[in-house]
Amino acid sequence: MRMVHSLFWLLPLLYKMCPGHAWVASNFLMTGPKAYLTYARSVQVGALSGAEECRRQFAWDRWNCPDSATQLRGLRRATRETSFVHAISAAGVMYTLTRNCSLGDLDNCGCDVSNNGKIGGRGWLWGGCSDNVDFGERISKQYVDAQETGQDSRAAVNLHNNAAGRMAVKATMRRICRCHGMSESCSVQTCWTQLSDFREIGNYLKIKHSQAQKLDIDKKRMRAGNSADNRGAIVDAFGSIAPTELIYLEDSPDYCRRNTSLGLYGTEGRECVQHGDGLTQWERRSCRRLCHECGLRVEERRTEVVSSCNCKFHWCCTVNCEDCAQVIVQHVCARREGGDGPGYRRRHRGPK
Ligand SMILES: *[C@@H]1O[C@H](CO)[C@@H](O)[C@H](O)[C@H]1NC(C)=O
Ligand SMILES: *[C@@H]1O[C@H](CO)[C@@H](O)[C@H](O)[C@H]1NC(C)=O
Repeated sequence: MRMVHSLFWLLPLLYKMCPGHAWVASNFLMTGPKAYLTYARSVQVGALSGAEECRRQFAWDRWNCPDSATQLRGLRRATRETSFVHAISAAGVMYTLTRNCSLGDLDNCGCDVSNNGKIGGRGWLWGGCSDNVDFGERISKQYVDAQETGQDSRAAVNLHNNAAGRMAVKATMRRICRCHGMSESCSVQTCWTQLSDFREIGNYLKIKHSQAQKLDIDKKRMRAGNSADNRGAIVDAFGSIAPTELIYLEDSPDYCRRNTSLGLYGTEGRECVQHGDGLTQWERRSCRRLCHECGLRVEERRTEVVSSCNCKFHWCCTVNCEDCAQVIVQHVCARREGGDGPGYRRRHRGPK
């Protein structure tokens, strides 16, 4: 179920507030903890867009942001991939709320005009509607970070990655300017800052994912057991890491293989692309990455699709069409004959 995926963290939140009646919220909206429900719908939309972007960014990776990645709440590990899920979800919520704010969807917030009228730089003044990211950031913190109730290193890592996701929203903002002056001579400009497309935030975080760092926590100190020591060890480990970077605790499992206890499907049966216009190098190598390097072969599948075509309009009023058959060729990873499944004759390892 697609929905479950992106609402993974929202559901328990709603249950906590309103056990047994999570979705019967209309009355509750008026009387319940307003801070939560005023924004619930926008938060939900933001979480969905985060999950959608995750699937798009990883469409041609061995790990393709499956629904299970976020369903197994209790079992989830803090891998490189879950760091991305956290960051993009937090960013999605911040992004949507910020947009809502600028569009006037919400009663209690609007554009950030705090600098308007001030000089921004040579030849330009602040003016117009700057996106109010501070508002979006605050709401995202309130909702998304509330999911991390633990005191352990995993909770600390998740919170760090949420914050890194929100920083990505800020880091990708652009300055937009408009010319003024005699017949648009542009002697004076007014400028404001604006969110990038969400796609760009996805691209940015995908790079951060590939550069993610493993958090090195002093295990001896952690084993000593008392919670002050634990927190100390965690704080020290974070000391060397920039707030913009994604971090993880555990190495990624082998995404080639199916592993039901981890909720992983493996790459058998996955589609890959080889030819086509406008493919990136990453896409063009997808068959190698998903099939060959996972010990699978590439199988060509031809499917005939019939659709209406050559439609003609006759006066008045009928439309006659012909049936046209079109053969669609797909490439899919399949088990090798005699091979014993994925991973058998692998040449490369690693969570690509
Ligand atoms: C916020 O924006 C999203 C789409 O970007 C929209 O679906 C949602 O309804 C908006 N929220 C409010 C309160 O208008
Ligand atoms: C699934 O993953 C777990 C944890 O990494 C591992 O112990 C187990 O052997 C794996 N199972 C299979 C069938 O690969």
